[in-house]
Amino acid sequence: MTDNQPMTSGLFISFEGIDGAGKSTHIEGLAETFQQQGRRVTLTREPGGTPLAETLRGLVLNQAMDPLTEALLIFAARRDHLQQVIEPALARGDVVLCDRFTDATFAYQGGGRGFDLQVLQQLEQWVQLQDGKVRQPDLTIWFALDPAIAAQRLAGARVPDRFESQPVAFFEQVHAGYAARAEQAPQRFIPIDASQTRHQVWQQLTRALIQRGKLSIVVPIPKAFQTPSP
Ligand code: TMP
Repeated sequence: MTDNQPMTSGLFISFEGIDGAGKSTHIEGLAETFQQQGRRVTLTREPGGTPLAETLRGLVLNQAMDPLTEALLIFAARRDHLQQVIEPALARGDVVLCDRFTDATFAYQGGGRGFDLQVLQQLEQWVQLQDGKVRQPDLTIWFALDPAIAAQRLAGARVPDRFESQPVAFFEQVHAGYAARAEQAPQRFIPIDASQTRHQVWQQLTRALIQRGKLSIVVPIPKAFQTPSP
C-alpha cells in the first residue's frame, strides 16, 4: 500500500449461537471468502485467542467454579484478547471474525446460569472501553436453533465440556439470552435460521452480508464446505 491509498477500515464480526448450532464451517468459509475478496482476515475465538486467554478457556470449560469467578475469568480472557489481538487487527484494517464474544456471556452466564445482568453490563463497560466507547462487533451473526435439535446434533459427537453437558433446559435459557440481546441491538444482530441445510445457511449468511455491503456479489462455495455435512 502507498501512502496515498486510503486505509481499509477494520470490520469486526462475531458469531453466536448455542452449542451444536453449526457455526464452525461457516466461519472458515467466510474467512476464505473475505481473503478471496482481497481482505486480510484475523480468525479468532472466545474464550481464547491469546496464550493467556486460551489458558483461562481451559479452566472455564473444565473446572467447577462459582458463577462470579466464571464471569470474571471470561472477561479477563476478553480483556487480554481485545488488547493483544482484536484492537491491533482492527487498527490495521483487518476483517476480524470472532467465534463468540460478549453476547455469549449474556446468553450463557446471564441466561443459562441466571447470573446478574447488571454485573455483566458493568464488566462489559470496563473491559471493552476503547477510545471512550464500549467496543462491540460491527455485526453479529446469530445461528438460531431449537435447543432440542442442537442436542440431537451434539449427541455423542465428542466428550462434552462444562457447557455442552448441560441439559436442554439450560440451552433454552441461553437461547432466550441471545434473543434478548438481539432485541436490544437489532442493527448489529443478523439472525440466521440454523435448522436449514449447510448450503441454505451459507446462502442466508452471504446474502445478509452482501445486503449490508460487506461482501461483493459473487460468493463461490468455499473449500471449507468440502468436508462432509455434520
Ligand atoms: P465454543 O465451544 O463455541 O468455542 O465455546 C466454548 C464454550 O464457552 C461454549 O459452550 C460457550 C461458552 N462460553 C460462555 O459460557 N461464555 C462466554 O462468554 C463465551 C465466549 C463462551
